[in-house]
Amino acid sequence: MKKIYIETYGCQMNVNDTEVIFAILAEAGYARTEVMQEGDVILANTCSIRDNAEQRIWGRIEVFAAEKRRRPGVVVGIVGCMAERLKDSLLDSHKVDLVAGPDAYRSLPRLLQDIAPDRPQINVLLSHEETYADIRPVRIDKNGVSAFISIMRGCNNVCSYCVVPYTRGAERSRDPQTIVDEARDVYAKGYKEVTLLGQNVDSYFWKAADGPVDFAELLARVAAIAPDLRVRFSTSHPKDISDAVIETMGRYDNICKGIHLPVQSGSDRMLEKMRRRYTRAWYLDRVRKIRSVMPDCVITTDVIAGFCSETEDDHRDTLSLMREVGYDAAFMFAYSERPGTLAARNYPDDVPPEVKNRRLTEIIELQNTLSLESNRRDIGRSFEVLVEGPSKRNPDEACGRTSGGKMCVFPTGGTPLKPGEYVSVRVLDCTQATLLCERV
Ligand code: SAH
Ligand code: SF4
Ligand code: F3S
Repeated sequence: MKKIYIETYGCQMNVNDTEVIFAILAEAGYARTEVMQEGDVILANTCSIRDNAEQRIWGRIEVFAAEKRRRPGVVVGIVGCMAERLKDSLLDSHKVDLVAGPDAYRSLPRLLQDIAPDRPQINVLLSHEETYADIRPVRIDKNGVSAFISIMRGCNNVCSYCVVPYTRGAERSRDPQTIVDEARDVYAKGYKEVTLLGQNVDSYFWKAADGPVDFAELLARVAAIAPDLRVRFSTSHPKDISDAVIETMGRYDNICKGIHLPVQSGSDRMLEKMRRRYTRAWYLDRVRKIRSVMPDCVITTDVIAGFCSETEDDHRDTLSLMREVGYDAAFMFAYSERPGTLAARNYPDDVPPEVKNRRLTEIIELQNTLSLESNRRDIGRSFEVLVEGPSKRNPDEACGRTSGGKMCVFPTGGTPLKPGEYVSVRVLDCTQATLLCERV
């Protein structure tokens, strides 16, 4: 039996796609390996979101090419977003035998079969229909607690800096019945948490025979499966997150009280140029609505520093918005121009690297303070935590997350805790990243 090894880069959707690829290839008789040196087929499931993501992958392609020289006959493939972005130019290096885009995974068994020396195979066709709805992903997580479920693919938003619409194609939603069935299935297998994935989950929409299903309705259907199945989702778009979604979150205890709401910038001029299609005031109104329904909801975000023509004033607007919201955590990036995007075609990437990096550092330092303040506010409070396993630092301690998604560590108290158990803890102390707790 041929063995397949996959390295995954990029977002959670890519992680879930790797699980889909394993399922498709298992059906075709391939076994999975976690050791590169054992792989007959070595794949990188790739990300193009920023230049440094691609640079890292080029480094891995070199390593795979060396493995191929050592073991002739090994097949090296690039799949995912970088495959879609660079298409057949990836073959020019002669290091790669296979290139497959995100909508081409059903063709992998045939492509692999057709590979011959000097006959690489490529399929980068994007689809308007493909959602892999009927494929049950082979779960690659280690602890069997938390599963990803893709509810839609692609993106119709064309934010001017973003490569995703080009690498993943047009937005399409998946049949809600197949989503609910998959969630039921993982729950039956012992999973206690599902994360519903899409680039913009709030625009989920399915026209069923018995009426339309929007994201609020889908959330309610998944939450109704079982009260001890936690439901998370990612990513919300500030322009689309509806009152109905926020209120549905409030109605179900098992819908986790954490929203990732990427803001990108606090400056209206930048937001306009980024084509985000909301204003600072609109964004703050959404935050107010979330907090009015769920006062303790954890709110996290993504921020881009140094987008085209960003001034010190624009940058200060971002810092002030971060303070105003008081984010619990954030992913923060320096703007990276992506070829072919609206921004690359229309606006010079004119903020000098040292200015971008200085602004990014200020953003990160502010967020470090906000994260610590957020965790300090939790000292003395009690939470229900879903156990993920032993803590990395200390085997006598377990770790798990709150409903809001904050990481807790706590002594097990002698009896080892099973991943997937719920326990009550009280917060005694904290770091910027972790709540230090005791069991109660
Ligand atoms: N669909 C999600 C985000 C997907 S990409 C949304 O709409 O928010 C994840 C994050 O990467 C984005 O939120 C953004 O902050 C960042 N990002 C995307 N393109 C980027 C670029 N060209 N340079 C720097 N950061 C970028
Ligand atoms: Fe990219 Fe914007 Fe789509 Fe998010 S919503 S994936 S940032 S184009
Ligand atoms: Fe990267 Fe593609 Fe996800 S570009 S962030 S892997 S959708």
